[in-house]
Amino acid sequence: MKLSLSTVLASVALAKPDPTIEKRATPTVYLAGDSTMAEGGGGSGTGTQGWGHYLQYSLSVPVVNNAIGGRSARSFTVEGRFDAIASKLKSGDIVIIEFGHNDGGSLSPTDNGRTDCPGAGTETCTSTYNGQTVTVYTYPFYLIQAAKLFVSKGAKVILSSPTPNNPWEGGSFAYSSSRFTTYTHDSAAAVSVGYVDHGTYTANIFKSQGLNTVNTYYPNDHTHTSPLGADTVAKAFVKGLACAGTANSPLASYIKNATSSIPGSCV
Ligand SMILES: *[C@@H]1O[C@H](CO)[C@@H](O)[C@H](O)[C@H]1NC(C)=O
Repeated sequence: MKLSLSTVLASVALAKPDPTIEKRATPTVYLAGDSTMAEGGGGSGTGTQGWGHYLQYSLSVPVVNNAIGGRSARSFTVEGRFDAIASKLKSGDIVIIEFGHNDGGSLSPTDNGRTDCPGAGTETCTSTYNGQTVTVYTYPFYLIQAAKLFVSKGAKVILSSPTPNNPWEGGSFAYSSSRFTTYTHDSAAAVSVGYVDHGTYTANIFKSQGLNTVNTYYPNDHTHTSPLGADTVAKAFVKGLACAGTANSPLASYIKNATSSIPGSCV
């Protein structure tokens, strides 16, 4: 059976925050994502860093980086990592979710435990992973489940589109949003949570910085950034928050920097 996303999501309205949850004086920001966001980026010895490391420098509230390399919306769900964040939340906390780099691929002949079921709604796939028969859901489904869980804990959620792979790797600039950007945008709209088109904000800054600079941001491969690259990617995210403004972003009022001092322009 295939239900439309909006049918499934209509139940979101019921996911009211639990009023008994303690409220913090200032929010804590939790990050859920993959290696492009994680502490240590693509791993030791790679000379890379995740952008989540640099977010703290632009905000007046604490940031807890729970991103971890190699994860997708699916594996973060299955491993209980969204649940682990949910168990720490206080009302008013903010969770940023950004996946996509490990969510593509095929479930056959070998399911790597990360790939999502294709589709934008409630499609499911039956797969074999680690010798077990498992049901695999779509990327929007996993994001929406996580967002609903966090909202039910009184948290605010920001869904963020994936960072670009090096848009200069072919020698001239080329960036187009992947389907995961569209899915992320539509998932955020479906559950009325915040959204940052991080991929486009980053790509625009990378375009203006040029090939030579941006190539130095990718010391190892076309996905994982150097510390300087990660700092730039973090600033692009902050620009997206600032451009969304306090009306549309739960984090906008906690940015330390003047909007005009942050590189890039609003999209
Ligand atoms: C904001 O300012 C801090 C220094 O106070 C700096 O480390 C950070 O990178 C800046 N953020 C942006 C988005 O420009």
